[in-house]
Amino acid sequence: MAKDKILVTGGTGYIGSHTVVELQQAGYDVVIIDNLSNSNRDVLDGIERITGIRPDFVEADCTDISALRKLFDEHKGIRGIINFAASKAVGESIEKPLLYYRNNLNTLMNLLELMPEYGVEGIVFSSSCTVYGEPDENPVTENSPIKVATSPYGNTKQISEEIIRDFVRSGSGIKSVILRYFNPVGAHPSAEIGELPNGVPQNLVPYLTQTAIGIRKELSVFGDDYSTPDGSCIRDFINVVDLAKAHVVAVERMLTGKSQEDVEVFNLGTGVGLSVKELIAAFERATGVKVPHRIVGRRAGDIEKVWANPERANNVLGWKATATIDDTMRSAWAWQLHLRDLGK
Ligand code: UD1
Repeated sequence: MAKDKILVTGGTGYIGSHTVVELQQAGYDVVIIDNLSNSNRDVLDGIERITGIRPDFVEADCTDISALRKLFDEHKGIRGIINFAASKAVGESIEKPLLYYRNNLNTLMNLLELMPEYGVEGIVFSSSCTVYGEPDENPVTENSPIKVATSPYGNTKQISEEIIRDFVRSGSGIKSVILRYFNPVGAHPSAEIGELPNGVPQNLVPYLTQTAIGIRKELSVFGDDYSTPDGSCIRDFINVVDLAKAHVVAVERMLTGKSQEDVEVFNLGTGVGLSVKELIAAFERATGVKVPHRIVGRRAGDIEKVWANPERANNVLGWKATATIDDTMRSAWAWQLHLRDLGK
């Protein structure tokens, strides 16, 4: 018998699709809602090829509350939500702040509003290490200070966390788990699903793999004059499948009454900081493919260094990132090769 029914918003997106796979493999019954603004329907085929199960799919926008009502009316018995549906490009958010506030906040508020009405017990929310800004100390714990957001995107994550806390405290009867992701990278080992960047990638790994395959001429390394050992920025690159698995554990915990608090917060990272230059070297070592790259100036708004202390997730959730960076880089490369086979 299938386990609980879970609504995954943004379920055809990058992290969403990997999470749907892990949920299905753990026996959950999944309904996806996605407006396909940054993904496409083929992702459903990829999911089905991996798990043998085609998830229920509703093409709609979560900012449309009547579409959400219709979904809950037609898919009775949803016990939990994992909310990935959000706009996530930092640069674009500076140019179009209202779009970001509207999409990200209205989506969350619509879901929260309907949860008690439809008996949905809990929501897992995708937050980000961006809430820590430039940390005073690394690694960061969940109690590290929250800094003033440097972009509307980052601000939507901070505000969303506050909205969730206020709504849970208001006596709504719901629970939440807030997951603060570090830098998710890589793809499913089957190469059936992965990150599908729209246009010129803004994030490091998609730009790197597109350069390695010849779509881009060279990768720009944004700055090597930071006060880090090799001068390039340091991040905590976490394998997307490891990240996806954390959602399964979080949902399970929330819905089986194991949460210690009605809102729990977890950092999802490896605990290891890797520089941009080290990441490029790891890719070249793991795949044997060279990545033409050049040092250029710093990118405005970049954080110098941030990596996670994941002990709370390790000890309380019982989850740990296990993939090696070499395996992760090989998975990113296999996905890029798969995209080439598809002519993308
Ligand atoms: C940013 C956000 C993060 C968000 C993520 C999603 C901040 C501080 N971080 O992560 O919250 O979830 O985007 O899009 O707002 N780099 C290059 N060359 C490139 C691309 C990137 O050198 O072509 C470098 C960047 O300078 C950075 C590192 O690679 O040091 C990682 O960049 P990126 O992949 O864009 O992620 P973040 O900026 O860390």
